[in-house]
Amino acid sequence: MKDFREMKRRGEKITALTAYDYPTARLLDESGIDIILVGDSVGMVVLGYPDTTEVTLADIVHHTRATARGVQRATLVADMPIKTYDTPEQAVATARALVAAGAEAVKLEGGASHARRIEAIVQAGIPFMAHIGMLPQSVREEGGYRLKGRTQAEIEQLLLDAHAGRESGAFAVVLEIVTADAAKQITEAIGIPTIGIGSGDHCDGQILVTHDLIGLFPWFTPKFVSPAARVAEEIRRATTAFIERTRNGSALSKR
Ligand code: KIV
Repeated sequence: MKDFREMKRRGEKITALTAYDYPTARLLDESGIDIILVGDSVGMVVLGYPDTTEVTLADIVHHTRATARGVQRATLVADMPIKTYDTPEQAVATARALVAAGAEAVKLEGGASHARRIEAIVQAGIPFMAHIGMLPQSVREEGGYRLKGRTQAEIEQLLLDAHAGRESGAFAVVLEIVTADAAKQITEAIGIPTIGIGSGDHCDGQILVTHDLIGLFPWFTPKFVSPAARVAEEIRRATTAFIERTRNGSALSKR
């Protein structure tokens, strides 16, 4: 695993993207990405659920196994799904199952309130990445995906959560949809790298859902993403071409 703290010290930006299958993981890995996350975003962009709350441990184990086969050099992190880390003991058992599936590190959503669970994972020898700010697994209780860090009280809570993650042994912390100002304060205050998603440019690295980056989920694109490709359009174009060729009886396939 790369020394991400050292990258932060050197001011070298950390790059992270999601993957849930072998070919995507292999393409990202061959392109030089630092971290590949088997995110529970798989629930939305692959499994067709409205949010991440229906993703199971079996889902993440299955996708981690496939993803791991495509990774040679990136750090492979697997997400711990909702309700799989309700106690320190359950958190360690879940983390071990993900490592057995091929993950090098795990991530769960939560900061200070989850310190004992994070410590238990780290003490079990499993590298851990924290995730604070807007927490998608809490979307139903929160009634939507809301920007965090808009008030001083929210910034203080975020700083508390980030410090708790670092003190519990996290090697990095994801900041999801927090204000650029809060992200800057956290990045300057803690010794571990911050990896932002929708949280401005001051973080030590950036992470995105690959489907958003490459335009493979055209029915919804988060406001903070500028897609770098239009893969859904290419799939539609190729499919239409295949349908036309087949119906015309021309060039069905090469011999
Ligand atoms: O599940 C996921 O893809 C994530 C990233 C958005 C950070 O947790």
